[in-house]
Amino acid sequence: MIQITATLIERRSLGAGQELRLRAPALARSLTAGQAVLVQTGCGLAPYLRRVFYPIALDDESWTLRVPADGDWGHAWLRTVAIGATLDCLGSVGNGFSVPAGSRNVLCLGEDAPASVAGPGISAWALLPAIVQAASEGRAVAFALEAALARDLIPSQRLPAAVEYHTAIRPPRIPDRPASPGVGVAQFLPELLPWADVVLAAGSLAFYSELATAVRAVRYELGRGFAQILYPAAFLCGVGACQACVADLATGRHRICQRGPVLDLVDVVGEA
Ligand code: FES
Repeated sequence: MIQITATLIERRSLGAGQELRLRAPALARSLTAGQAVLVQTGCGLAPYLRRVFYPIALDDESWTLRVPADGDWGHAWLRTVAIGATLDCLGSVGNGFSVPAGSRNVLCLGEDAPASVAGPGISAWALLPAIVQAASEGRAVAFALEAALARDLIPSQRLPAAVEYHTAIRPPRIPDRPASPGVGVAQFLPELLPWADVVLAAGSLAFYSELATAVRAVRYELGRGFAQILYPAAFLCGVGACQACVADLATGRHRICQRGPVLDLVDVVGEA
């Protein structure tokens, strides 16, 4: 974990959202997909209210974050920062995705899950660095993504050409309502799950619950080491001190900034 000043070197608009590329070599080299970075927003008057981002692109010199088109004032401030300005960043937080050495077929599953009263949002864009790395290592990669609106899907040209890409539009989940079978990413799972050696997923807790049900139906058991998920948590300190990120997992209460944010799916839903 380091606190570092990053320089904004590129801004790109995608719809109403923006992508900001930040030059910070020491941080970029320590980051992996799924690890969080806490970015200070505003003019330094609110130092503890950092915004949480997951890298959507990584290289040796820089990392890229995606600012959603929402009403958050910190995000609005970031959308106006001038090229060449510096941002105070704290990262990398926790553990990221890790593809085991022997895994040939990597299945990535994403849901566009904006923040709501049910909890913090998770964007499937956080999977992109893992997808790019797995493809560059010569692994076979399939990516299935669902969103409520077509405009919220990741454009196919953002993926390596070799990635098999499946998309689905589905209405937002309704809390405490059972999932409709065959809707969204679930329609692809009977074909993709037997093929996969490892699953990397980013979405809501309801999305992970449906994934666990599908794994048990298709593969007959959900074992440790098969599926990694990015847990949707709110971070304040990022170092285990504030307890803001505590969550009830299958193995008890844990600080997600220390235990996650990438967890084994079994840690979330249990083995039963
Ligand atoms: S963010 Fe403070 S304990 Fe995890």
